[in-house]
Amino acid sequence: MAQPLFPDGFLWGASTSAFQFEGGYGLGGKGAATTDRGPGRPGIADNRVASDHFHHWREDVDLMEQLGIKVYRMGFSWSRIMPDLTGGPNPEGLAFYDRLIDRLLERGIEPLVTLYHFECPQVLVDAFGGWKSRRMIDAYVRYAEVCFRHFKGRVRRWVTVNEQLIATAAPDNTGDRETDPRRRQRNTYQMSYHVAIAEHRAISALRTIDPTAQIGPVVSLQVVNPFSGASADVLAAMNAEEMMQNYLLDLSVRGEISPYARHYLEREGFFPAVEPGDVAILGASSPDFLGVNYYFSSCARERTEPIRFDRFPPWSGGDFELCANPTLKPTRWMENGIDPLGLVVGMRKLHDRYRLPMIVTENGMALSETLDEEGLVHDGPRIAYLEQHIRAVKELVDEGYPVFGYCVWSLMDLCSSHQGFAKRYGLVFVDRTDTDVKDCARIPKDSFWWYRDVIRRNRLPGGEA
Ligand code: BG6
Repeated sequence: MAQPLFPDGFLWGASTSAFQFEGGYGLGGKGAATTDRGPGRPGIADNRVASDHFHHWREDVDLMEQLGIKVYRMGFSWSRIMPDLTGGPNPEGLAFYDRLIDRLLERGIEPLVTLYHFECPQVLVDAFGGWKSRRMIDAYVRYAEVCFRHFKGRVRRWVTVNEQLIATAAPDNTGDRETDPRRRQRNTYQMSYHVAIAEHRAISALRTIDPTAQIGPVVSLQVVNPFSGASADVLAAMNAEEMMQNYLLDLSVRGEISPYARHYLEREGFFPAVEPGDVAILGASSPDFLGVNYYFSSCARERTEPIRFDRFPPWSGGDFELCANPTLKPTRWMENGIDPLGLVVGMRKLHDRYRLPMIVTENGMALSETLDEEGLVHDGPRIAYLEQHIRAVKELVDEGYPVFGYCVWSLMDLCSSHQGFAKRYGLVFVDRTDTDVKDCARIPKDSFWWYRDVIRRNRLPGGEA
């Protein structure tokens, strides 16, 4: 028997982000961004050329059409659209996205646009410290309003912020160079509080500017399994999910803070500064959907030593101790192992807590890849990974969970957030290395053809007579 069909209209897609894919550094009036320098380590690519989508965008849309995706989850570069402090939009920046979005729509591909994916305009960091300041809220809302007005009727779904957890914790993203561990923690929570206020104000703005468009945050799905069946480990896993995910989503979705999160932040002196009026802003809007990024699950055990706030990332300190899961096998780049069922666990929990429609906005397998003698890439392990995770999505759909789409990370090879081009996720190989930009030629991998078939048939392969 053939594999069961996905529902009609299921949104098959693929993802990129502007800073990892676009390149075009300093071109078309683009301003500098915190992410331009990449991880800033010698021998690892920065994001100035990235996959050179800035020059290859026509060919890239052709490939998307060939792949058959229904939705392209992409990002806008804030510093391309608003390069300076005046807050006035850069016509050339808007024109770049006009051309891209019009071409996508011509080809029947829906753009799902992320407003903020780790990339912070450097000018805002230099002027007032970026997200550490409340001025950033106004700057973000101004930027969002420009985008909502300009792309009204063409962009039907927006993402406010990609993975707030990482967006506000990594100094390479925020530009916050605080070195004192406790002050760094406090900054992170203050920044994410400002992000939540900015998200709610942007959602309220969209309701006025384009009431039929939809909007939601993208979460870095945290599925934290307890190391053992001991209740102390179960509680540790709950604490980890609370502070690495639910604290942020509770603010973004419901505009509130859970009792445990409040207690933890107050106990440690990290509770953010709030202003009168914030409660009203947080309560005035709620998103239409949740985007879900999932790569692997994690594991936690009871904390037996005092919390070390000097460890990085900052959120890895808390009333829990992250540890390896003895039931999973790490691979070269998927350090926590591969756990497709974790996606079911995590998305069911999200539904239980937030009751929102969900779309998988990122899911994919990282490999080290080069072209073989025939100039091809045979990425069997990626196909196996995608198949297992798409099966997990089908299980959720069959059980009645409102999952309306799935996007592979990534459409093409792009600059990994910390490991450059040594670590690749793409369905399409981009011919460049960390140290040699070459011509960035596009070469579909085996997974590209495999995924094209999945989309065409609206089902996984296998079982046909
Ligand atoms: C997600 C991000 O965290 O994971 C992407 O939204 C990122 O931007 C992806 O690239 C994979 O992480 P990494 O570090 O392997 O590039």
